[in-house]
Amino acid sequence: MNTNDFAYRLLTWYPDNCRDLPWRKTDDPYIIWLSEIILQQTKVAQGLPYFMVFSETFPDVKSLAEAPLSLVMRCWQGLGYYSRARNLHACAQQVVHDWGGNFPDSYRDLLKLKGVGPYTAAAIASFAFGEKVAVVDGNVYRVLSRFFGVDADISTQKGKKEFEKLANQLIATSDPGTYNQAIMEFGALQCVPKSPDCHSCPLVENCHAFSANRVQDYPVKTKKVKIKKRYFSYLHITCAGYTVVKERGAGDIWQGLVDFPLDEFKNEKQNQWEDGESLASLRGFSRSQIDVFGTTYKHILSHQWIFATFVQVRLQKGDLEILRNWVEDRNYLLVNGEELEDLGKPILIAKYLIDCD
Ligand code: ADE
Repeated sequence: MNTNDFAYRLLTWYPDNCRDLPWRKTDDPYIIWLSEIILQQTKVAQGLPYFMVFSETFPDVKSLAEAPLSLVMRCWQGLGYYSRARNLHACAQQVVHDWGGNFPDSYRDLLKLKGVGPYTAAAIASFAFGEKVAVVDGNVYRVLSRFFGVDADISTQKGKKEFEKLANQLIATSDPGTYNQAIMEFGALQCVPKSPDCHSCPLVENCHAFSANRVQDYPVKTKKVKIKKRYFSYLHITCAGYTVVKERGAGDIWQGLVDFPLDEFKNEKQNQWEDGESLASLRGFSRSQIDVFGTTYKHILSHQWIFATFVQVRLQKGDLEILRNWVEDRNYLLVNGEELEDLGKPILIAKYLIDCD
């Protein structure tokens, strides 16, 4: 089969098999961009409700640019990779300020936008403007490596370049946008990572991996991510209806979200929360009640596993003024119940707040 046949078969498969998804019914680059940023590293089923909230709350790029970052973070809560939400907001402002509110209409210019890399630029350029530029994502690596038997390693730059080159040769069709959607959809629905149903596959006859009985060997990826384990002991400090929260800074996970004062440990030991420095600094509060919440939470991120325990410190009303000083000295915040609800929080904290209620 030549490369044109490959594209042709995908384009024939697509209309009969594709999912009915809202961002496919438009050529508005804003809506396409929004969907692609949300769907990066997120499955459609998980991303769809977020897309609905964002597209309804911020129907155009101007409304997103003008919204407070805290609202954007709150809408993003639970999706993870929070730098993407900050970039989303910054990018909307960039489009309004530098591009007169109109998304750039070429792959080259789209790459100038914050948070827009080669994949997203190719998606917007092809879906919204019909530019002949191939998307290369995890689905595309899998489909191409299996079908053509490409042994290039996708964890290296050299390997990625090889796939990009092949993908751009294959896109020689009159409808590059639909071709890009089709190959991604084919990877998501038919040529799935684990146990694909090759017998129902329209490309099986010419599939290299199938004929070599090596479907599970593709794509080749040698470097595994190293997982770091972290042990968090959070202080959930409450006083007279207020809760102490801490805004997370740059250089670590969850920048821009709020959590609680925190003691972090390198290893797991029984009752090590008692040694926490933040807890020690609360000793001046005479009438506190301290309880350890019964659950240890395991929160899995792409490169880290967080094990979190929560120490509940309930202070008497009379301690509110000293608490205010303690909070101010440390750049923490004291918030009431409604404010706590409205702030963007890591999902770990949101879960704990439901459980401890
Ligand atoms: N994942 C990333 N982009 C997508 C799209 N446009 N349609 C379906 N899944 C996707």
